[in-house]
Amino acid sequence: MKPYEVLLNGNKLWAADKISEDPDYFDRLAHLQTPEFLWIGCSDSRVPANEITGTQPGEIFVHRNIANLVINNDVNLLSVLDYAVNHLKVRHIIVCGHYGCGGIKAAITNHDFKAVLNMWLRSIKDVYRIHRAELDSVNDEEKRSDRLTELNVQEQVFNLAKTSIVQRAWKQEQRPDLHGWVYGLKDGLIKPVFEMKAGTHIDELYEYDDL
Ligand code: CO
Repeated sequence: MKPYEVLLNGNKLWAADKISEDPDYFDRLAHLQTPEFLWIGCSDSRVPANEITGTQPGEIFVHRNIANLVINNDVNLLSVLDYAVNHLKVRHIIVCGHYGCGGIKAAITNHDFKAVLNMWLRSIKDVYRIHRAELDSVNDEEKRSDRLTELNVQEQVFNLAKTSIVQRAWKQEQRPDLHGWVYGLKDGLIKPVFEMKAGTHIDELYEYDDL
């Protein structure tokens, strides 16, 4: 059997299993998608949103990229954000990083990862620079990258709050709340590290006054 055929077989077993538990399962899901949450997570294969939160298909709208970044000109991310906020009407947006993140570790090095990856990792280096005093004072390398993981999640939450998409929803519908979480690969537990309730004021430079 070819490696990818394992996936297709696994899928058949999974679908049969679901139907045996609940014959209407797919009928119901096919007609309804009303997730309350948008999840912005890392692409890392060890951090699947539904599995680690004990949720089912249909409950979380998901976007994943390397090191869970919210980049202000990333059309992919912004499309997902726009759709989740304005059409699905999600009540919460979760940016979830994870300790031991390869993207975070790579950004701390001075290695040339070549054009596209260098470009992506640059944003994480910027987060480091903003918090350089705190991070430089952490001697242990693993602890330093773990702390950068937490600060990165916080900065990405700020980046969400800087978008007119989020600010308009805050003004008109008092949602969504923004959450910054970090998942632990070693214990499977999620640590909430930062939160911004809908309507929180940010640096006025980023606040639109004519939404
Ligand atoms: Co990662």
